[in-house]
Amino acid sequence: MTHFLDIHTTPPADLRAIIDQARTMKEARAGRPRGTPDDTLPLAGRMVALIFEKPSTRTRVSFDVGVRQMGGQTMVLSGADMQLGHGETIADTARVLSRYVDLIMIRTFEEATLQEMAEFASVPVINGLTNRTHPCQIMADILTYEEHRGPIAGKKVVWAGDGNNVCASFIHAAGQFGFDLTFTGPATLDPEQDFIEGARAGGADVRIERDAHKAAEGADLIVTDTWVSMHDPQSARERRHNQLRPYQVNDAMMARAKPDALFMHCLPAHRDEEVTSRVMDGPNSVIFDEAENRLHAQKAVMRYCLGV
Ligand code: CP
Ligand code: NVA
Repeated sequence: MTHFLDIHTTPPADLRAIIDQARTMKEARAGRPRGTPDDTLPLAGRMVALIFEKPSTRTRVSFDVGVRQMGGQTMVLSGADMQLGHGETIADTARVLSRYVDLIMIRTFEEATLQEMAEFASVPVINGLTNRTHPCQIMADILTYEEHRGPIAGKKVVWAGDGNNVCASFIHAAGQFGFDLTFTGPATLDPEQDFIEGARAGGADVRIERDAHKAAEGADLIVTDTWVSMHDPQSARERRHNQLRPYQVNDAMMARAKPDALFMHCLPAHRDEEVTSRVMDGPNSVIFDEAENRLHAQKAVMRYCLGV
């Protein structure tokens, strides 16, 4: 069974093959209307369940469109509307869904839910975001970086702000794709130490720098994300904003990076909070290419999981 649960648990050669296939498939359908099928239909006859226990725009639409372009069918399920939200165990839900569908994508809260789904499903499971990680996003981001600037290996990536789930998957990717990563944010919001140690063990130079502008020095890519994630309590909003304000990505921070440095954000963004509109809409920003590349990267992830 080939699940796609995390970047650090997927072999580097497989990650590279997924990125390369995503690029090939994207190029093969360039310029076509979104609703037209691909030339080959690797998911013909396949049924895919897309389960959301949290809101989503990009993940929901890109998976749904991707499956259809590859000839498969989807059903989008809200966790709250399933028995899952009313006491049926994850294990039993996994066993039941495996009798109906060929692939399960789940966006959930706890890492344990994803792991239990994968353990008891007899079909592949894809992580569509948990409180701790967001691997599909980072596959799209690697694809985006490499389309614009070539291989990401050896480059300097700066993560500014909250050491959250998206940051964690970026750190995992540093170890697997061989780039360096500097985290800049307040100590209370540092990424998990074992994620950092894992990436270092993979050969990545992972650093922490409290001064955001020093951190940005010589960067090839600057990335940020919301200051309050879906799993964070709203009561923490004001405290987080106060702590994170020095880490806003703005013109002054971008000026310390290389002149051709890219800016990324997984979206949804809060304009003029974690990043200024000037940077989001500026010449270095590739945020909408990232959003588009969710589609192409995930199509390749689904093919990898199904072996088709
Ligand atoms: N970036 C991302 O996962 O967006 P959604 O929450 O809209 O799916
Ligand atoms: N860190 C954000 C990412 C949203 C795609 C969250 O978990 O809400």
